[in-house]
Amino acid sequence: MSARKIIIDTDPGQDDAVAILLALASPQEIDLLGITCVAGNVPVSRTQINARIICELAGHRQIKVFAGRAAPLRRPLVTAEYVHGKTGLNGPELFEPTMPLQSQGGVEFIIETLRAEPAGSVTLCPLGPLSNIAEAFQSAPDIIGRVQEVVLMGGAYFEVGNITPAAEFNIFVDPEAANIVLKSGAPITMMPLDVTHKALTTRPRIEALRALDTPVGHFTAEMLDFFERFDIEKYGSEGGPLHDPCVIAYLIRPDLFSGRHINVEIETQSELTLGMTVADWWGVTDRPANALFMGDLDADGFFDLITQRLALL
Ligand code: BDR
Ligand code: CA
Repeated sequence: MSARKIIIDTDPGQDDAVAILLALASPQEIDLLGITCVAGNVPVSRTQINARIICELAGHRQIKVFAGRAAPLRRPLVTAEYVHGKTGLNGPELFEPTMPLQSQGGVEFIIETLRAEPAGSVTLCPLGPLSNIAEAFQSAPDIIGRVQEVVLMGGAYFEVGNITPAAEFNIFVDPEAANIVLKSGAPITMMPLDVTHKALTTRPRIEALRALDTPVGHFTAEMLDFFERFDIEKYGSEGGPLHDPCVIAYLIRPDLFSGRHINVEIETQSELTLGMTVADWWGVTDRPANALFMGDLDADGFFDLITQRLALL
């Protein structure tokens, strides 16, 4: 089988960074056409730097990195430095990347690529707020039918919320964008907190990455050392949830995940529950299914995959 063409749309973020590394380490399954950055965990002026740091760290300076939207469609940006640190990648010692930032905008790249590649051959992998994808869908509706699949990290049902009691961060930051994407008619697979909260960076899992004893292994372990402190304190869990790599792992090993094809709607009105993903897990409405909403993963298999693949970088 030929490698699947993807665009990663991201706001790195330590967990976004691991997702990018996993994609770069998996050329047999994944053909990374480009990385579009978006404002989310930190402003886009920083997420585009972070994406280039990760590509350079992995020895993939040829990857095209684009800056996309600096703000959600209709709301002021909410960031998450309190989780990821001021740089978004706190933990390891960071360097100034020297590979170029593309001059084309991220949204334009998404549109151009979907028009240029054969219909049904490009998968979009959003790992942050859906602002870039929604703007692309709104300004070029002809591309929607050309998308193979949107595989995204966002939302929650049983776990409800992380940034508010009702909402997950990526959806909360730009609920209007999420609504546009969920209603677009494109095939969608979602990795909600229900899955990612089972993908915990326990001590042995981080130490296995450090034990690779490579620049990528050390950098990743140091990022995760920093990243997990927040969630351990918040949830009293054994480690931090490694959210975004679930998207890439699913493309490589879909058998590690299970879920249901259901209806998912986005709350865009209520102040109290803004950004909630109202997921009809139990099929109590007759609203049509619009997403494959994941519910479980094989966490050991997931971390084994990450460790084995990052060893290749
Ligand atoms: C999501 O929010 C960000 O902080 C993470 O990178 C992930 O994409 C989890 O809610
Ligand atoms: Ca992210």
